[in-house]
Amino acid sequence: MAGVAEVIWGLATSHVPSIGAAMDRGKTEDPNWKDLFDGYAPARQWLAQHEPDVAIVVYNDHANGLDLDIVPTFGIGTADHYRVADEGYGPRQVPDVIGDPDLSLHLLESLVDENFDLTVFQELEVDHGLTVPLSVWTPDPGDAWPCPVVPILVNVIQYPQPTAARCYALGQALGRAIRSYGEDVTVGILGTGGMSHQLAGARAGFINPEFDAMWLEKIHTDPAALAALSREELIREAGSEGIELIMWLIMRGAMADEVTKVHSHYFLPASNTAAGIALFDNRAPQPA
Ligand code: DHB
Ligand code: FE
Repeated sequence: MAGVAEVIWGLATSHVPSIGAAMDRGKTEDPNWKDLFDGYAPARQWLAQHEPDVAIVVYNDHANGLDLDIVPTFGIGTADHYRVADEGYGPRQVPDVIGDPDLSLHLLESLVDENFDLTVFQELEVDHGLTVPLSVWTPDPGDAWPCPVVPILVNVIQYPQPTAARCYALGQALGRAIRSYGEDVTVGILGTGGMSHQLAGARAGFINPEFDAMWLEKIHTDPAALAALSREELIREAGSEGIELIMWLIMRGAMADEVTKVHSHYFLPASNTAAGIALFDNRAPQPA
């Protein structure tokens, strides 16, 4: 019998570079950082017991792996290997990322057939947008991350970013694409970025805890309501970089309508940014 691929969990997490730097420099017990990392612990413990065969990381590059003169709205990596980008102070000392070209090509074909015309990255260096979420998941990877990774890229850095609705629809198509992969594999999916933040301009430092609380709740219970927010509403409420949150909707769209929340946590501020984590179990609850 042909196998079936199954999304077993979804992890939403901020990707603030200083979270990676705090880990790389052994500062996770510092008073400024301890509450953030303590808030990760229950998710990390659960994830360590639910290791997937492959992970899909929905993320954005920040002009490190790509140049700003070519910014695809959506992209997918099809390589067997992604090197860690040098963002100006040497690459993070974390493992390079192993790819899964077979799954990448299956997802690409399925998504193009559903009219999502992703740009193909046969080569790609990955920046903090991808490596910090991997570190949030796996603080001590040793020589290798827990499993191969398929990167899916989203333009959240240059106007016009895709709408939240388009991201949610892409996630739903991604879920169908995963389920049509004829291999018996378990999949973890990461939606990354956010939460509210603005790094430059008159509102630099802007954070909106009320909006973030609403988002953390509705990403679980009512993602369609979040998908109805316009680009302008998102930027007004979450800040110009807070629009990164649209990537959480791709993760959520790939999961079942009903999911079980395993853990969530919110921390203020990590660098300039409201940092959040939310972990969902995508498997039907087992009868007690
Ligand atoms: C910060 C946040 C980001 O999302 C990012 O990509 C870079 C920096 C920050 O808060 O420092
Ligand atoms: Fe960012």
